[in-house]
Amino acid sequence: MSAFLSAVLLWAMQVGAATFPATVEVDLIFPRNDTYAPSILFPIVFAFQNAALASSLDPSLDLLLWDSTFSHANDSTLNLKSTNFSNEPTFVYTYISTLNTTADGAPTSYMLSWELGARNCSHGGLPFIGGGFRSLGVTFTIANGAPKPDLVGATTNSALCTNASHFAFNLTGTLDVYPAQYDGRNSCAVLSDVQPLVDGDPCAVHVDSATASSISAALTATACADAVSPLVSCPSKQNAAAADTKTGFPAMLSGFVAALVAMQLL
Ligand SMILES: *[C@@H]1O[C@H](CO)[C@@H](O)[C@H](O)[C@H]1NC(C)=O
Ligand SMILES: *[C@@H]1O[C@H](CO)[C@@H](O)[C@H](O)[C@H]1NC(C)=O
Ligand SMILES: *[C@@H]1O[C@H](CO)[C@@H](O)[C@H](O)[C@H]1NC(C)=O
Ligand SMILES: *[C@@H]1O[C@H](CO)[C@@H](O)[C@H](O)[C@H]1NC(C)=O
Ligand SMILES: *[C@@H]1O[C@H](CO)[C@@H](O)[C@H](O)[C@H]1NC(C)=O
Ligand SMILES: *[C@@H]1O[C@H](CO)[C@@H](O)[C@H](O)[C@H]1NC(C)=O
Ligand SMILES: *[C@@H]1O[C@H](CO)[C@@H](O)[C@H](O)[C@H]1NC(C)=O
Repeated sequence: MSAFLSAVLLWAMQVGAATFPATVEVDLIFPRNDTYAPSILFPIVFAFQNAALASSLDPSLDLLLWDSTFSHANDSTLNLKSTNFSNEPTFVYTYISTLNTTADGAPTSYMLSWELGARNCSHGGLPFIGGGFRSLGVTFTIANGAPKPDLVGATTNSALCTNASHFAFNLTGTLDVYPAQYDGRNSCAVLSDVQPLVDGDPCAVHVDSATASSISAALTATACADAVSPLVSCPSKQNAAAADTKTGFPAMLSGFVAALVAMQLL
């Protein structure tokens, strides 16, 4: 090992108090493979487990919502650049507006595909930052008479979490990086050479009712701040604080998935 490399590794040892190897996991918490009533603000919620280390992966999330014919998709991005990963777990979320049945009231299915971008410094740190994108999806149904979206229920039903889509990374350490070179993050994940991705445990995350209420309130506030004529009843504009990590699905796009899936490793 060169003197330079040992110096970098020593420097890395001083970072944080985390114990390695450590698993950082991203779970799609909602929707599950299930059936829901039409709703004005349909939540999409992800959880980061071992969130304190999540920013070292410089994560990004891109979403596509497909209609049942898979011919049209709407896209959205969750901007994680300013996400505060200090809560364990950390939830990030957005919503889809007025998700409904077919016009004649028949149940209709949607497929939400999500793409996680993650970077790493597994090969010795700067200038060897690498990474890539991985996609997963979930199919769910909107039907009249079905239960309303319920984050607490979705995360207490073990039958719904076993197949929940997720990714889990096996970190053996982190390296200090200059924030200017890493999207403002100051550490970069080093992944196991043996087993960089692991099984994870998507059933470990439970949303309690206080968290569910605060997510719901934040989505309402975002909808109120974003819309010219809000879909939901809103408090006065001044109270409607909204972070830019929580934006709805804006426009109809077709054939967009090809472009997203074709994105190459960084
Ligand atoms: C979705 O749920 C249905 C009905 O419960 C089940 O048959 C199917 O295997 C599930 N799909 C996945 C990918 O979990
Ligand atoms: C769903 O569509 C029906 C019929 O068009 C409408 O009455 C209802 O308000 C819609 N629900 C939502 C949540 O948009
Ligand atoms: C995409 O957005 C358009 C315009 O808001 C809407 O009419 C369409 O139903 C949406 N498609 C899906 C799959 O949600
Ligand atoms: C992040 O959240 C924690 C706990 O909620 C808070 O103490 C801390 O000040 C926040 N950091 C920033 C930069 O907002
Ligand atoms: C880590 O980055 C390398 C490129 O340096 C990439 O090939 C690899 O897929 C990344 N590992 C993971 C688990 O994303
Ligand atoms: C999980 O997915 C597998 C394969 O798709 C399926 O056989 C199984 O029924 C699913 N389990 C649940 C609880 O949906
Ligand atoms: C994580 O990586 C370490 C170091 O490479 C390895 O010993 C361990 O078995 C991996 N964890 C899992 C669950 O595979």
